[in-house]
Amino acid sequence: MTTVTLPGVYTPQDDTDLLIRFLRDEILPPHAEVLDVGTGTGAVALAAARLGARVTAIDISWRAALNAKINALLARLAILVRRGDLLAPVSGRSFDLILSNPPYVPAPTAACPRRGAARAWDAGHDGRLVLDRICEDVPGLLKPGGVLLVIQSALSDPEETLRRLRAAGLDVGIEEHRSVAFGPVLRSRSGWLRDHGLIEDDAGKEELVIIRAVRL
Ligand SMILES: C[S@@+](CC[C@H](N)C(=O)[O-])C[C@H]1O[C@@H](n2cnc3c(N)ncnc32)[C@H](O)[C@@H]1O
Repeated sequence: MTTVTLPGVYTPQDDTDLLIRFLRDEILPPHAEVLDVGTGTGAVALAAARLGARVTAIDISWRAALNAKINALLARLAILVRRGDLLAPVSGRSFDLILSNPPYVPAPTAACPRRGAARAWDAGHDGRLVLDRICEDVPGLLKPGGVLLVIQSALSDPEETLRRLRAAGLDVGIEEHRSVAFGPVLRSRSGWLRDHGLIEDDAGKEELVIIRAVRL
């Protein structure tokens, strides 16, 4: 299967693969409506389309949206790709499954970057700027019985994600903890992470966490 990653678009990696693995465990209704928020190259959206779902994919980056369209064409899969901020392009719609591998890395900058590759991972000092918006906005777009699968780092407080989704009325749980070696971004800011009490002196690994939340 040929896929491309355009310059500046997030290269699918451990978090992408883990989210796809858990997506494949979901039992989807016939003609399921699936949304991938922050689609990047479209890797997660394409995996959902291969399961027979009707997939909409969103990214704030024009380049990522183009990348996802190219990969859908190469795979001969029909995916509706929209460029826009988080859930704005799908307001008024509802979904059986919402997937997201959002930016979740704690960063020295307080705001999300407005452009550049770091927009794919930097999410404010606590890594929660996008996660908190997902917790706020996703519950209203799930059909009854609909599921949110979201991946994040243990560095960006998964308990807070659980608390927020529970407060929105969803049934929540952690499906997986997976330890992975620091990539270049975390390695390059390990001093800052240590100074802010987010990692220990000798840390070289982070934990990825898959959260599953169901609208009752
Ligand atoms: C960690 S990457 C994940 C990409 C892809 N889903 C994957 O798993 O390989 C996060 C993606 O979210 C996008 N993104 C960041 N902020 C966003 C926002 N406010 N609305 C929509 N997409 C956003 C980035 O452009 C980037 O493509």
